[in-house]
Amino acid sequence: MNIAIIGYGKMGHMIEKVALSRGHTVNVKIDPAAAGATHKEISKEALKGVDACIEFTAPDVAVENIKKLAELDKNVVVGTTGWYNKINEIRPLIMKKGTGLIYSPNFSIGVDIFFRLMEHVFKVMSHFDNYNISMKEVHHVHKKDAPSGTAKKIAEIMKKHITRLSDLDIKSVRQGEVPGTHTVTFESDVDVITLEHKAKNREGFALGAVMAAEWIKGKEGFYTIEDMMEELI
Ligand SMILES: NC(=O)c1ccc[n+]([C@@H]2O[C@H](COP(=O)([O-])OP(=O)(O)OC[C@H]3O[C@@H](n4cnc5c(N)ncnc54)[C@H](OP(=O)(O)O)[C@@H]3O)[C@@H](O)[C@H]2O)c1
Repeated sequence: MNIAIIGYGKMGHMIEKVALSRGHTVNVKIDPAAAGATHKEISKEALKGVDACIEFTAPDVAVENIKKLAELDKNVVVGTTGWYNKINEIRPLIMKKGTGLIYSPNFSIGVDIFFRLMEHVFKVMSHFDNYNISMKEVHHVHKKDAPSGTAKKIAEIMKKHITRLSDLDIKSVRQGEVPGTHTVTFESDVDVITLEHKAKNREGFALGAVMAAEWIKGKEGFYTIEDMMEELI
């Protein structure tokens, strides 16, 4: 299929590599400043013949990009994090336009598996209130939002099952070029249980995002990666 990349930064480059390796065409790369970009902004001409767009930019521009793509009847995979306070504005817009959008704070398939494991773990731990629960997320120094979208999602899962706690204690660390590590710790007076997901590189996010583009092509509606995973497993 014909994929357009919106945001030709670190993720945009990795997505291009993965998309090409899966037999897709990537002729359109939109970015205001990046070397190698084919267009500076989203336009009807730029997106002619494009089957789906993959958006990895920055929290402050993602919402405008999503609106422009919906206006142009283009389906989109949104990987940018930190715009979720606008979901209630975007969802009805996508439904009204009849386009397709799939988003996730973390397109790694392994992280989705981690979320599924955490559902079960928090359910079990809800019976044991002698454990303190905390979380640490470590990302590269360029990441613009904190805590990470993935950490917030884990906090949501926790709140669903552990009603004695109103929030999860999250420590965000920004360090070097770390692609993304999420560690959940349960500590009692006698032991410590640790669960961790550690991305080795960015390729896992890019692969999930390209799989999502293949999935969203021709679909209508507002989806998360969970909807795609439900179909896959
Ligand atoms: N969901 C996931 O699985 C996942 C995984 C990794 C990262 N992320 C998220 O993805 C986003 C991008 O990450 P990254 O590491 O690739 O960042 P990055 O290297 O900074 O790349 C972002 C690119 O978007 C460009 N950009 C800015 N405004 C734009 C616009 N209006 N239209 C098109 N392009 C625009 C930037 O250009 P300038 O530099 O010139 O401003 C930059 O080249 C972040 O929100 C990050 O948290 C999500």
